[in-house]
Amino acid sequence: LRVTASQELGQKIPDTLFGIFFEEINHAGAGGLWAELVSNRGFEAGGPNTPSNIDPWSIIGNESFISVSTDRTSCFERNKVALRMEVLCDSKGSIVCPQNGVGIYNPGYWGMNIEQGKIYKVILHVRSSESVTISVSLTSSDGLQKLASTNRLAAASDVSNWTKMEFLLQSEGTNSNSRLQLTTNKKGVIWFDQVSVMPLETYKGHGFRKELASMLEELKPRYMRFPGGCFVEGEWLRNAFRWRATIGSWEERPGHFGDVWMYWTDDGLGYFEFLQLAEDLGAFPIWVINNGISHNDEVDTTVISPFVQEILDGIEFARGSPDSTWGSARAAMGHPEPFQLNYVAIGNEDCGKKFYQGNYLKFYYAIKAAYPDINIISNCDGSSRQLDHPADLYDFHVYTSASNLFSMNTQFDHTSRTGPNVNKDSFVDNPFMMQFQVFVSEYAVTGSDAGTGSLLAALAEAGFLIGLERNSDVVQMASYAPLFVNANDRCWNPDAIVFNSWQQYGTPSYWVQHFFKESSGATLHPTTIQANASNSLVASAITWQSSVDNSDYLKIKFVNFGTDIMNGKVPNQNFFVQIVNFGNDIVNLKISVAGLQNAVNSVGSTMTVLTSSNLKDENSFEEPNKVV
Ligand code: AHR
Repeated sequence: LRVTASQELGQKIPDTLFGIFFEEINHAGAGGLWAELVSNRGFEAGGPNTPSNIDPWSIIGNESFISVSTDRTSCFERNKVALRMEVLCDSKGSIVCPQNGVGIYNPGYWGMNIEQGKIYKVILHVRSSESVTISVSLTSSDGLQKLASTNRLAAASDVSNWTKMEFLLQSEGTNSNSRLQLTTNKKGVIWFDQVSVMPLETYKGHGFRKELASMLEELKPRYMRFPGGCFVEGEWLRNAFRWRATIGSWEERPGHFGDVWMYWTDDGLGYFEFLQLAEDLGAFPIWVINNGISHNDEVDTTVISPFVQEILDGIEFARGSPDSTWGSARAAMGHPEPFQLNYVAIGNEDCGKKFYQGNYLKFYYAIKAAYPDINIISNCDGSSRQLDHPADLYDFHVYTSASNLFSMNTQFDHTSRTGPNVNKDSFVDNPFMMQFQVFVSEYAVTGSDAGTGSLLAALAEAGFLIGLERNSDVVQMASYAPLFVNANDRCWNPDAIVFNSWQQYGTPSYWVQHFFKESSGATLHPTTIQANASNSLVASAITWQSSVDNSDYLKIKFVNFGTDIMNGKVPNQNFFVQIVNFGNDIVNLKISVAGLQNAVNSVGSTMTVLTSSNLKDENSFEEPNKVV
């Protein structure tokens, strides 16, 4: 393998090349990255009608002690459903309550992970015409082991109107299959609504489950595409993600049923939280918008304007000044500074639908007129045919077998470099520059090669990514999909990160992404492989500068004659060669590198190998590090 590492022959890789795609699929957010432990916290699952679906809430006590129903008496305007609990027993009298009281419990998402010493913030809204005693506890799944509890007494006058109660509970034990119990042994009627349990400690204090968010941070993603995928579209438009319903205080959010992946989400992880997460990860947000098209219904272009306005408002929410209508809503949520929203994708996999083109143009021109710097992403694949509409990037999705994906490392070798692949004549009135770049926003090996995340799949993906690096003059961004799966609800296989209530591991595909985390913004150098098996080998080489904190080095080597303090950071040139062997045979490679600056001062090298004894090997909760 020959590498020409001189800077003159190097090519800058886009700063944005490798990022992540977060979709609300597989309970990635609700019951996953979003640290809320209560599922269906407002009793709203099933929609605004009553009786509503209170699943997974269940009743403690039989019908001679307690009767539970839902009504529409909540104090929250957009989510009126509340739980009505009529307690028929008392601590004394004709019907005496069971010793541990009666009430309701919520097991969270397949069990709450409650850990010894950790503090949990419990919030609930309550109303009653009588004085109440409510015992709030975190217990084992059978209710027998109490991990943390408190008894709250409230006079009738305190709770005659809806009242918010807040507690901090510190756990005295650990149980990954715990539940929240709300119990009483006092006769009367109590209403509950918007009940939440969150660990006090979350990633950057913003509500994300720490271990999962850290796994994202470790990938150094340069952008984050969200919130889907098919989740954005919905099977039906009435079930699509609508950003306005996901902002403001969590208690006011109606939640919605994601009818593609078939589960309810309380929308605690809403539009604001997505923008916040991207910022916390140091990544650009890429917002995929619903363009009036779902899997089964479409809004005619002649009546699309309210949908366009909804998106313009959403951009103002992200970017507007705190004095603007929607910018002030963002500021009220604690983020007066604008978020750096520079990319908007119009729809997901909708090219070819009846109203896509018409709707797309309405969104495109309206967004560009208000925000000329926003990059717009089209759903239509410009690599296979000429795009017939303006765009900054076009979306490219690929899910295929391992050998196909590996061979697609040359997919973009022949994409035109000479200019936009567009019939410009049809856009004579287009005032905007058309510079098409490819956004490989979803890629993965799927099917039997991949299982639930095999080494074979990861190897093929690595080969594909090396091809993208080599073509990063036209490929601007790439992300694996899907990112997360809660092992209790696998809607899609495979995924990069697998978790349950208390464990998580990366599939080999997750670990492959680590090999590429320094590539964005680095310099790519020409490589030539001379080997018999060269069809099954692909390689790339990069250099990049990093600042190394080396104050001792500074003291020895430099005199600071300036007026500014030097922080003890010196630039450090790093060199990295990546090689994928997708063949059956071991290949002995000699690597020669020409033109590397300061190679004489090199401090050594490290070899990182992703392999295992069997190509079908996977990681698991039992063996999370089998292939790393
Ligand atoms: O990544 C899973 C799904 O695959 C996405 O929702 C969709 O965009 C694609 O079809």
